[in-house]
Parts: sequence; C-alpha cells; structure tokens
Amino acid sequence: MAKAKTAYVCTDCGAEHPKWQGSCAECGAWNTLSEFVVQPAKVAAAGGARNSGYAGKAAGAAKVTALTEVATATESRTLTGIGELDRVLGGGLVDGSVVLIGGDPGIGKSTLLLQMLGRIGAHLPGVYVTGEESLAQVASRAQRLDLPLEPLQALAETCIERILEQAMATRPRVLIIDSIQTIWTELLTAAPGSVSQVRESAAKLTRFAKESGTSVLLVGHVTKEGGIAGPRVLEHMVDAVLYFEGESGSRFRVLRAFKNRFGAVNELGVFAMSDKGLREVPNPSAIFLSAHSEPTAGSAVMVTREGTRPLLVEVQALVDQSSLGNPRRVALGLEQNRLAMLLAVLHRHGGVAAYDQDVFVNVVGGIRVQETAADLPVLLAIRSSLRDRPLPDKTVAFGEVGLSGEIRPVPNGEERLKEASTHGFKRAIVPKANAPKKGRVGEMEVIGVERLVQALDAAG
Ligand code: TYD
Ligand code: MG
Repeated sequence: MAKAKTAYVCTDCGAEHPKWQGSCAECGAWNTLSEFVVQPAKVAAAGGARNSGYAGKAAGAAKVTALTEVATATESRTLTGIGELDRVLGGGLVDGSVVLIGGDPGIGKSTLLLQMLGRIGAHLPGVYVTGEESLAQVASRAQRLDLPLEPLQALAETCIERILEQAMATRPRVLIIDSIQTIWTELLTAAPGSVSQVRESAAKLTRFAKESGTSVLLVGHVTKEGGIAGPRVLEHMVDAVLYFEGESGSRFRVLRAFKNRFGAVNELGVFAMSDKGLREVPNPSAIFLSAHSEPTAGSAVMVTREGTRPLLVEVQALVDQSSLGNPRRVALGLEQNRLAMLLAVLHRHGGVAAYDQDVFVNVVGGIRVQETAADLPVLLAIRSSLRDRPLPDKTVAFGEVGLSGEIRPVPNGEERLKEASTHGFKRAIVPKANAPKKGRVGEMEVIGVERLVQALDAAG
C-alpha cells in the first residue's frame, strides 16, 4: 500500500502544517497540532460519503425523496445473552453497528465482553482482539470465568491493517477490540493512543462494520479528564457509547448508555462482580440503599427513575464547619453546579445557611443520578446533616427544586411511589402534582408539597 500523506492540523483553528511544531503558526495556540491522514484531492471531490464508507456508491446520484417512499428496514438485532447488556443496547446488538464501551481501567470491561462473546459465540462467530493481554492471559481468564472455550476465538494484534486482514478472512459476526487505545495504523507515525491514531483506527473499523455487517465493540479507557482518549473524538463516530461505572469499593457495576442511535439513552444495566465474573442484577431497586439499623443524620432516600425502572437510591450529605475562606462543595454522583444552586435556594427560600460550611454529597453505590428529581432529597440530606437530626424513619423523597423555592413535579410519580411503598417505606415527601388525592399509596402516607419550606417542615 502506498504511504498516505499526512499533515499536522491544529485542533483549535484547523490550520494545516506540513511538519509538527510546538505552536500553531496560524492562531498561536500551543500543543494543538495533531497528525492526520490527508486524502488526495480527487477522492475528496468524490464526496465525503466515500470516505465514510458505506454511502459511497450513491455519491453524485442523490435526489430528494419523500420519506413515505423510503423503505424503512428495521435493523436486525442479536441478543447477546446478557439481559442487562441487551437492555442498555436497546434490545440487543444491532448488526453492523459500532459500540464504544468506556470506563476506568479495572472496572470490568474486558470481563463483560469476554462473557458476552462466550454466550453469543454459541450461535454467532466472534473474535476477541486483545492489544493489552497475551492470548494465554485471555484463555486463562475465560477458564476462570467458566466460559465454554470452543466458540471463543482471539487475536493478539495491535496493527489495524493486520486486524482487518484477519477479520476479512474469518468474517466474524462480532468483533471486539480491547482496547482502541492500543490500536495503530501504518498510515501514521504518531504513537498508539494519540488522538490521530485512535481516530483513524476507529474510522477504519467503522467502515469495516458498515460494509461487512459485523458488529464491532470497542473498549475505551477513560482518561483522568473523563473523556475517552482521544478526547471525545470517538463519540460521534460510533453508533452507541456505553459507560461502565462503579465505585472501586462497591461490588456493583452500572452500565449506562450515553449515546445510542438504536435505543433510549437513559437505560441502566446493573451487574454485581463475583469470582465467576459479572452477574446480572435484573431487579436492582433496593441495592443502592446502605443498611442502617437506625435512622442516621445526613441520609435521605430518593426514588430515581433511570430508563424504564424506578430505583431506590440513598443520598448522603456531610456538612461541617469549614476552616477555609472558600468552603468546599463536593458532589459525587451528582452535578457540582446543581449542588451550588441548590445550596443557594436552601439559603434564600428555606432559611438554612451553609456559606461557612463544607458540604459533601454522595450517592451511595457509585451510581450517577442525572435527573432533577434528586434536588429535594439532596436538600433534605444536607439540612439533616447540618442540624445533626435524622429524617423520620422510612421516609423517601423526590422532586425538582426551582430557583424561586417551588417544588416541581417529575415524570412517572405514581410508579416511583408504588416502588417505595413496595419496599416498606412509610412516608413520602413529593411534589404536590405527583401526590395522589387520597394522600396514600398502599400503606405509605404521601405528603404533597409546593414550596421548599413545606418540604422542610414535613421532614421535621
Ligand atoms: P477487567 O475486566 O480486566 O477490567 P478492565 O478491562 O475494565 O480494565 O477486570 C479487572 C479485574 O477485576 C480483573 O483482575 C478481574 C477482576 N474481576 C473479577 O474478579 N470479577 C468480576 O466480576 C469482574 C468484572 C472483574
Ligand atoms: Mg481490560
């Protein structure tokens, strides 16, 4: 293959340079030049479509079409055999799709994918490409996980051209790349793991997936800044981005869709780690509660709804006299800015001041709550810690808190209340519009509130 020409492109302003240099001659930014493959002009003129692979044949022949005349092929899917993974994928793995699975090193990405290949391998040929471990390590891991070894095929290789050569020859239906950061292309001289290498290798794999109908799963390690290296460049190239999360101390792992062209993005898959690998937790509603024997100050239980399931989750707060001029606000599992905003509302509309206090808020079990229904329980936990007085026993709460101190309703209130009642909660403090008229759900008393002060009163 003729060596493709490469150029160094400034990631800030897009200026092209023939050689690498420390700062961009165009905009002056430092350390922004990144190596890219330059396509010869003729190919580029034939339309970006050809470069992206599968739409190439239609280049130049496209015409406006009424959508009613477009045959909508429903994508064909394969169940992976792991229910929680299928749920997050939106009902199974779509043929020819590219899925990126991101997460911290050691969280269990390799384990999950090897288990998946073990299950799926019985009826679909799959290949596990490892760039991090030797074949012997993969085999012994498979043995330890009690996976059937016959359907498992592995390849220890990091050069994308050679991987694709093998893939063309063996035509697997599922191709796992562990991890994309170790893969490099002969076209570039940059080191493996650099933005340009990762991007170019992923582009080649995407093209291969679309042309062959093979489903490709890419493992991506999350860097300290939180983005997958190269920072976010992969997210728009792939069909789905799933993140594997969990606290290092907790044995539970949560798989969350961050982007999914073939399904909903707020779906959660829950797994528990064991010595035989990841076990599914199909009914996870109560695992995120820590087992206090008696009510504790600074703890509140909320009902969050992630995807299609309600989950009971404990929020903990610790409020302590600060010795710093600028007290600390730390939110784990919640958005930091939201916490700052909630503290302002608590002061202005609840009369509770915390400006001289350090405030730490944590969601138990390492899960991340992204919906606003967490507002009210967070504030109840903070006030409880500040006053060192527990909330009444067996109390749950949810609701969005507005800037003027109003408590706004959240979707699916009835379902959340039912879940709490089923788990033996006795009291719920919720937005008025979410509370049933008769004020009860089963045995549980439901207190509907419209203002933050009412909620604080109700919590004692
Ligand atoms: P691994 O799958 O290698 O993580 P990643 O690919 O995300 O870096 O898992 C890390 C370690 O944890 C590995 O030594 C195996 C162990 N482990 C278990 O023992 N049981 C499990 O259920 C999981 C997920 C991991
Ligand atoms: Mg791994």
